[in-house]
Amino acid sequence: MKIILLGYMASGKSTIGKQLAAKLLIPFVDLDNYIEECEGKSIKKIFEEEGEIYFRNKEHEYLKELLNKNEDFVLSLGGGTPCYAGNIDVINSYTNVISVYLKANIRTLVNRLELDRVNRPLVASLTNEQLTEYIAKHLFERQFYYNQAKNVITIDSKSMEDIVDEINSLLS
Ligand code: S3P
Repeated sequence: MKIILLGYMASGKSTIGKQLAAKLLIPFVDLDNYIEECEGKSIKKIFEEEGEIYFRNKEHEYLKELLNKNEDFVLSLGGGTPCYAGNIDVINSYTNVISVYLKANIRTLVNRLELDRVNRPLVASLTNEQLTEYIAKHLFERQFYYNQAKNVITIDSKSMEDIVDEINSLLS
């Protein structure tokens, strides 16, 4: 079984994914890190040097590569992955995949991204004032895709352990 975590930037996909994988004793894969390793450069550099369209094509390609592997793992997607290139349909077409949307409200995302956005090209150059409006609009557009995940878990004000347990309980 492959467990796929999706959601907006800073919704905790990687942190939760790592803990969940450790609990399930299966490998953890972060799609952004996988892309960085395969391409030999950071996401930031890929955006700068090749542009977003190149990144989205690679993201689609590497996602399919991972889904076609005959292995179990927890996979954390990038925030935009489900929203491009028919990726959410690709994900949902696999019977051995459980998709989980880690749903965070705007306030949670703004608070987190205010502190941690330098390596996220889409928001790195926004001021704190611009961030709320950007996230509100962006999340509204993206929710259409995120909500196509087979499972939705709200994460605001929940501990990491509770979220991991909640995902774990979906598996039994
Ligand atoms: C993106 C999110 C990032 C990364 C890239 C684009 C997005 O991943 O894939 O910067 O479009 O939301 P995280 O959600 O892990 O920050």
